[in-house]
Amino acid sequence: MRIKSKIRLLFALKVWNVRQADASAVLVADDIEEALITMDNPEEDSSSAKYIENITFPSALIEKTFGDPDDRDKYELWTNSNDECGVKCDMLMAFVKDFKGAAQILEKAGYTQFTPHYITWYCPQAFTLSRQCKSQCINRGRYCAPDPEQGFSSGYEGKDVVIETLRQLCVFKVANETNRPWVWWDYVADFQIRRPMKEKKYNKECADGLDAKKIEKCIGDPDADTENPVLKEEQDAQAGKGSRGDVTILPTLVVNNRQYRGKLTKGAVLKAICNGFKETTEPAVCLSGDVETNECLENNGGCWQDKAANLTACRDTFRGRVCECLLVDGVQFKGDGYSHYEGENQDFICTD
Ligand SMILES: *[C@@H]1O[C@H](CO)[C@@H](O)[C@H](O)[C@H]1NC(C)=O
Ligand SMILES: *[C@@H]1O[C@H](CO)[C@@H](O)[C@H](O)[C@H]1NC(C)=O
Ligand SMILES: *[C@@H]1O[C@H](CO)[C@@H](O)[C@H](O)[C@H]1NC(C)=O
Repeated sequence: MRIKSKIRLLFALKVWNVRQADASAVLVADDIEEALITMDNPEEDSSSAKYIENITFPSALIEKTFGDPDDRDKYELWTNSNDECGVKCDMLMAFVKDFKGAAQILEKAGYTQFTPHYITWYCPQAFTLSRQCKSQCINRGRYCAPDPEQGFSSGYEGKDVVIETLRQLCVFKVANETNRPWVWWDYVADFQIRRPMKEKKYNKECADGLDAKKIEKCIGDPDADTENPVLKEEQDAQAGKGSRGDVTILPTLVVNNRQYRGKLTKGAVLKAICNGFKETTEPAVCLSGDVETNECLENNGGCWQDKAANLTACRDTFRGRVCECLLVDGVQFKGDGYSHYEGENQDFICTD
C-alpha cells in the first residue's frame, strides 16, 4: 500500500505539473512493467488528494506494455512436487485444490496467463556418483530433490520427487501446447488425491486427455547423462530477473513479476491477481470472490461414467468435484472412481 500511495502521489504531481503547462489531457506512461492500480483514490491517502482535487481533465496511467495485445495478468507458482514435507506442503496442496476452480475460470476466459515453476538442485560434479546423489538426482546429478522421508531407506527417494516434478512440468508444457494450460491444475490436484506419497502410490500415471507419448518424450530418460531442456530452463529461471528477485522460499507466488508476500489462500491470492484488472473489466469471479461451477460438466470431471446406464462417479461439492463409485440398487460399485486412459483406450474403474 505504501508503494502504491507513493506512485499515486507521483502520478498526481506529474499530471498537475503538466496541467500547469496548459495541456488538455494527460497520459502518464508507467515506467516499469506492473499491474495497473487505481490512481484516483483520495480516501486512501491524503497526500495526493490535494493534487487530485484540482485534476478535472482526463488523465490515466497506462501500462508500459500499452499496445501489447497480451494484457493478461501473469502469475507463477514456484513449488516442488513433494507432497511429503509437512505443514508447508499440506498448505500448498490445500491451496492448489482450493484455487483450482478460480484459476481455471480466469485462464479459460483469457484473463490470466499462469505458469507453474519448480525448483530443483544439482549435485556438485565430484559427488555425482555418491550414493546420496544417486538416490536424490536424475540425469547424473543434474536435477535433485531431497529425499521425501528424510533418510529412511524405505519408500521414495528424492529422484522420485524430481521425476514427478518433471512430469508435472511436461503435463503443463503439453497442455499449454494444445491451448489447454489449465489441465495442469486438474493433474496436480488429482495427483494428491489419487497418488499421495503418504500412501506410497507415487508412481507414474498419465494425465487425462493429454497425449501420453508427448509427455513421455518430454520426460526423456532420467538415467541418461544429458541435460533435460525442461528442467534446465527451470533452473535458469530460478535466478531473479528484474523486479522479481531470486526465488528462495517455497512455495512462492509471483504476480506480474513481483513476489507475492500475502497468505496463500484463495481469497487473498484472488485479490492480488484481480488487482491487476481495470475496474469494470474485471471478471465476475473477482467481484463475487467465489467460483460456482459444476466441475462434473467438463469431461465428467475425469471421473468414471457409464453413459449407457446413465451412471457417473462424479459429484460436485463446494470443495471441488470428487470421484466416488456409487451405490446402485443396493450394490456398492468398487474402484477408485476415476477413468483411466491408456492411449486411445479408456479403462472403466467402477465395477460391481
Ligand atoms: C486547487 O484549486 C484551488 C482553487 O482554484 C486553489 O485554491 C488551490 O491552491 C489549488 N490546489 C493546488 C494544490 O494547486
Ligand atoms: C504457453 O503457450 C504460450 C502460447 O500459447 C506461450 O507464449 C508460453 O510461453 C507457453 N508457456 C510455456 C511455459 O511454455
Ligand atoms: C440421468 O440421471 C440423472 C440423475 O441421476 C437424471 O437427472 C437424468 O435425467 C438422467 N438422464 C437420462 C438421459 O436418463
